[in-house]
Amino acid sequence: MAAADPQSGFRYLNLCSVDAETRPQARMVVLRGADKSARRLEFHTDTLSPKWRELFANPHVTVLSFSAESRLQLRLQGKVELHGPGSGAADAAWDKLPARTRMTYTGGPPGEERVFETIDTAEPADEAEAKARFGVLIFRAWTLDWFQLRQQDNQRALFCYDEAGALSDCRWVNP
Ligand SMILES: Cc1cc2nc3c(=O)[nH]c(=O)nc-3n(C[C@H](O)[C@H](O)[C@H](O)COP(=O)(O)O)c2cc1C
Repeated sequence: MAAADPQSGFRYLNLCSVDAETRPQARMVVLRGADKSARRLEFHTDTLSPKWRELFANPHVTVLSFSAESRLQLRLQGKVELHGPGSGAADAAWDKLPARTRMTYTGGPPGEERVFETIDTAEPADEAEAKARFGVLIFRAWTLDWFQLRQQDNQRALFCYDEAGALSDCRWVNP
């Protein structure tokens, strides 16, 4: 499974949101967990990042990925739930992170101009501060647009899921 296998073609996904000016935004994220039957994916991010603010205001997202190995494009549409610092989901995910990954949640807010401290004045990064800005995104898919690239005769199908993640509709469509 892609969340457990760093070599999987679906390990890195494109998480697409809409910003406050209704412009599309996209960025790569690592798939941290997946629940196939609930159609649920887990991502981790810095709550000081622009994406967190965008998703707080508008949780509707598209998740896009392509695996060169299987020649499959997956385009999922759905919503994210935001689990911020201090939530049960964020605490549980934090406890499983290796120390080096925890320290990626330190430093200045993502996207802001970088201030390079001199070695003498640089403060050692604090794990408690890192934890205080760590957030978990739980994505639930409503639809999957499945596209297989072939030498000829590409294949495409649409799948729809209900609230519980059960398949409610599926059909082949023209590629
Ligand atoms: C391969 C790859 C994986 C990444 N994984 C994550 C991730 O899991 N979470 C995350 O917040 N940012 C991740 N990033 C960085 C984001 O793509 C993005 O640059 C950063 O989070 C700022 O996004 P924002 O300005 O839209 O908030 C990753 C970047 C790359 C290239």
